[in-house]
Amino acid sequence: MIPREVVEEIVYRADIVDTIGSYVTLKRAGSNYGGLCPFHSEKTPSFTVFPATRSFYCFGCGAGGDVITFIKRVENLDYPSALEFLAERVGITIPQDRANERGELLNRKRIYEMNLEAAKFFRNCLFDPKLGQEGMQYLKSRQLSGATIKRFGLGVAPNSFGMLTDYMHSKGYSDEELIKGFLCGKSQKTGKSYDYFRGRVIFPIIDVSGNIIAFGGRVLDDTKPKYLNSSDTPGFKKSRNLFALNYAKDACSESLILCEGYMDVIALHAAGFSNAVATLGTAITSEQARIMAKYTKKVIISYDSDEAGQRAANRAMKLLEEVGLEVRVLKMNGAKDPDEYIKKFGSERFRQLLGQSKTGFEYKLENVLAKHDISIPQEKIKASEQLCDIIAGVTSSVEREVYIARVAESLSLTAEVIKNDVERRRSKEIRAQRRKESRDAMNSAKNYGDRINLDSAKNVAAASAEEAILGLLLIYEEHRTAVEKGKVDVCADDFFTAFGRRVFEEIMALQSTEKGFDFSLLDEKFNSDEIGRITRYKIGRHELRENGIDVLTSSVETLKKEKQRMSEKSGDDPFATIKRRQQNAADRKNKK
Ligand code: GTP
Ligand code: MN
Repeated sequence: MIPREVVEEIVYRADIVDTIGSYVTLKRAGSNYGGLCPFHSEKTPSFTVFPATRSFYCFGCGAGGDVITFIKRVENLDYPSALEFLAERVGITIPQDRANERGELLNRKRIYEMNLEAAKFFRNCLFDPKLGQEGMQYLKSRQLSGATIKRFGLGVAPNSFGMLTDYMHSKGYSDEELIKGFLCGKSQKTGKSYDYFRGRVIFPIIDVSGNIIAFGGRVLDDTKPKYLNSSDTPGFKKSRNLFALNYAKDACSESLILCEGYMDVIALHAAGFSNAVATLGTAITSEQARIMAKYTKKVIISYDSDEAGQRAANRAMKLLEEVGLEVRVLKMNGAKDPDEYIKKFGSERFRQLLGQSKTGFEYKLENVLAKHDISIPQEKIKASEQLCDIIAGVTSSVEREVYIARVAESLSLTAEVIKNDVERRRSKEIRAQRRKESRDAMNSAKNYGDRINLDSAKNVAAASAEEAILGLLLIYEEHRTAVEKGKVDVCADDFFTAFGRRVFEEIMALQSTEKGFDFSLLDEKFNSDEIGRITRYKIGRHELRENGIDVLTSSVETLKKEKQRMSEKSGDDPFATIKRRQQNAADRKNKK
């Protein structure tokens, strides 16, 4: 357990608008802030931050909570790690022994130290005349200078099953730690550990704070797999890091160049383009897109020129545009990737290529035109349909206007017909969206498909009385005291839904502690979806004007009455319970 004073201090200092604002572009709307929800894909903002209650809620997907829940979700962390993350951001130190109590075998710091030790080992091997001979020869054959090798901390893993393991043992790291940190594999037969990287050149992966968080290793020839990468560990998530961002972050106020491979990035940095980064052996994720948006305004996608690379570029474009980045795409001819291009044509030509990079729309336009022979009427129609679809998805009307003119010109049609087609698609889309929204609203009103509060659909009146009670208790100290002192007579057993009962119990359990209730402490007791729901109770209530004790008592009355009514209803047939039991027993027997 992290002491509650520390939790409170973290939540107090990590201002919810500032913290969320560093992930989501927020616009003021009255006393709240709105933006596009980072937890589901949407075009119109339904994500709201409420500074008054220090909470956020998305009316589209139901995500919600306080600043801790937000970090838990957006950074994909558990409760203690989210607190650590925030603590670091606001400059609070969490008492160490307590942070360790959570039984995480390897804490982050230990992994970083271990990786640093391993990186030194790999580097020493590379510079060893015997052990490093082949690796060094390989790197030279790829035209890497000594300076580049040093800058990226490259190394080599000798072709041996135990050299790294032995070395790390001598530095005090256990097999268990080495396996957890993906430096070692574990033999199925003997259970002993062996070096994971063997006979490979090693690329350390370094985060923006300078910690070595993982390794990639490339074979020296054409054997497969070409690359091995460490899997995710407590200190490292592939989806949340970018290769070379530690250097690129200081050179990317204008733009970032996004590549596919480590070797591309290294070649680009060596050629003077120190704003190049790559994803870590995986397709780009929305988290990585958000990270890039933190550092720059524009991303130039510079993927391999083959079919797979171009498909990946399409996907990347979409994710990057979604986080509001300006996107450019590089088209290379005569080379398969940036590394090869620079070797063949030199860095000056690459610089020109950067200058000629296409906007996302031009790139899509060219792709569509390349696939269709527009001198054939049918093909021209198809091309026009695809392009109108693309334009219909553009939010800005100015941009749409510009693209419409562009398409009309390329297809030799009038702008008017293109415009009509685009508008028709847009209104169709908007109608479909409206229908979906009202369907969603109806469903949630009936509590159909409610996975968080399973029982709520069985008695909507009771469930909404519960929501009112919980909302009031979440906000007002005086109401919690009234319940605690018995002035309002309600207990856990009065609750009708299991979820409502649990929320009530946790609120009152915290209330009875010396320091009383605090919303942030619920983050530890409920998962993020549940916290979202609890937040809805809170903000739903906060928006209403009547929140006095009489609302609380009358909601309690309604809840009790509904429960009574339901038990009477099921009491109509005194044998119902017995019959049900017999039936259940028979079912069990049949199953056997
Ligand atoms: P070179 O052939 O050395 O120039 O490699 P590259 O950096 O150009 O890599 P390539 O374009 O072949 O692949 C792009 C990225 O995908 C690499 O940097 C790796 O991160 C990843 N990758 C490639 N091959 C493999 C593989 O076999 N396994 C895994 N896990 N990742 C791979
Ligand atoms: Mn390559």
